[in-house]
Amino acid sequence: MQPRRSAQWYAGDDRNSYIHRAWMRRGLPADAFAGRPHVAIANTASDLTPCNAHLNEVARSVSDGILQAGGIPLNLPVVSLGETQVRPTAMLWRNMAAMAIEEMLRANPIDGVVLLGGCDKTIPALLMGAASVNLPAVVVPGGPMLTGTFRGVPLGCGTDVWKLSEEVRAGTLPAAEFQRSESSMIRSRGHCNTMGTASTMGLLAEVLGMTLPGIAGIPAPDSRLLEAAHATGVLAVEMIDAGRRPGDVLTHGSFRNAIVALAALGGSTNAVVHLLAIAGRLGVPLTQDDFDRVGADVPLLVDLLPAGRFLMDDLYRAGGLHAVLAEIRDLLDPAAITVTGRPLVEHLAGAVTYDREVIRARSQPLRPHAGIAVLYGNLAPDGAVVKPAAASPRLLRHRGPAVVFDSVEDLHARLDDPDLPVTADSVLVLRGCGPKGYPGMPEVANMPLPAKLLARGVRDMVRICDGRMSGTAYGTVVLHVSPEAAAGGPLARVRTGDPIVLDVAARRLDVDVPAEEWAAREPSAEAATAYAAPRRGWERLYVDTVGQANTGADLDFLLGSSGDHVARGSH
Ligand code: FES
Ligand code: MG
Repeated sequence: MQPRRSAQWYAGDDRNSYIHRAWMRRGLPADAFAGRPHVAIANTASDLTPCNAHLNEVARSVSDGILQAGGIPLNLPVVSLGETQVRPTAMLWRNMAAMAIEEMLRANPIDGVVLLGGCDKTIPALLMGAASVNLPAVVVPGGPMLTGTFRGVPLGCGTDVWKLSEEVRAGTLPAAEFQRSESSMIRSRGHCNTMGTASTMGLLAEVLGMTLPGIAGIPAPDSRLLEAAHATGVLAVEMIDAGRRPGDVLTHGSFRNAIVALAALGGSTNAVVHLLAIAGRLGVPLTQDDFDRVGADVPLLVDLLPAGRFLMDDLYRAGGLHAVLAEIRDLLDPAAITVTGRPLVEHLAGAVTYDREVIRARSQPLRPHAGIAVLYGNLAPDGAVVKPAAASPRLLRHRGPAVVFDSVEDLHARLDDPDLPVTADSVLVLRGCGPKGYPGMPEVANMPLPAKLLARGVRDMVRICDGRMSGTAYGTVVLHVSPEAAAGGPLARVRTGDPIVLDVAARRLDVDVPAEEWAAREPSAEAATAYAAPRRGWERLYVDTVGQANTGADLDFLLGSSGDHVARGSH
């Protein structure tokens, strides 16, 4: 057997190995430094990331499993991001968390790592960091919360906040009733229970091959999650002995599988930027176009909010992820292996669907084509994405005059102005919300609709933005427009009244202004004053080095892997 990586710190009888051992000993058994694998538990538990607060209990089960298999478990708290709390947007800090996780995995005497995440950005950041270090790594997704109810009906967190608040603005729900729903929204520990970004990335971590098969989607309070955590601890030790690393698991085939699953699940558009960023760390040649090419014709099989009716514990009860994957098994790459060393498709043999309302048969899909469409045109030279499954079919081909907002502040100030020149046919355009412009590419693309149109019963309009939208949101929203306005993208040149032409079937997004006039048009000076110009700290580093959405919005100097080698010792 190869000497363990941790032996670079602990083996031998010189002064330095003495120092490394002595400070770590603290009650560990005498053989702890004699070749047993040291396994970090990268833990995003935090009271300020409420969706992940239960991960300390999960970590204890992982720890038991590592010990049982002969390893030494080491709790490693890492940067955590609470999606609803962190300003200006958790996405600004995803790359910082990924960089911090990467460096702490590399800097420490460990042989492998178990990654504990849940809330939206935490699993992507963990996977990005672990991919760059390429030590044996396995994820335990923290799992969704149980379904809360209000007035006898289930509440989908995220999605129903948008729905109910629109009802208040439309005057069809009293504000006091809306307030009363607040304590019912979050029923238990765990992350959002709709098919938002957290659910999507937890499930895709498994499809990518990075979890013990069969565990993604177990609700957070379910005892089976702790069983799975224990088994993952055992598996981590086996992976270290086998030398199985993220680079062996995260191949082009496993990313293709994730794209197929993303469509069948009706998953979050945020998965596009996260999967591109993870692939970028490994040098896997994944492109935004792959999402359209590979996923566009995959049927939607899962009837979950925001696109459908049910919630995450319904999905698990109905047979879970494996039941979904079994329906589309022929579309999956048979060679893509998982952390077990065996192909993903081999683990699907025993899959059973218990509820055909929640998980549809391939022959009776909710929609025949569910994937994400990537649009190009004079408004989006490097592409923009739209999720047709969350859109109104009648708006997928639309022409209407732009109503332009230079920032979210501008939007909030003018949206409900009775004199705003807007009709149901207008196209709302919001710019300055890309990675550089905001900064951090917030989830604001699903703009609220003008109150006067809501009052007339309008519930969807075409909206275009260089930001993201919450995975729990819905509507005919074109997002991730690249390049963003703040990076010189043409969105900065659009004016209120310009005709916008959206044609999703033709994959086009254009402004219909005569070519000469368009070429001579200057970017909006007002918009430029709304862009972020941070002078110091992380925001400065981020704005100076972040890439555009179509390549994953990672920092340019974080692309690729550095491996687990550390050039110099500390003494
Ligand atoms: Fe944490 Fe939705 S806010 S998953
Ligand atoms: Mg979110």
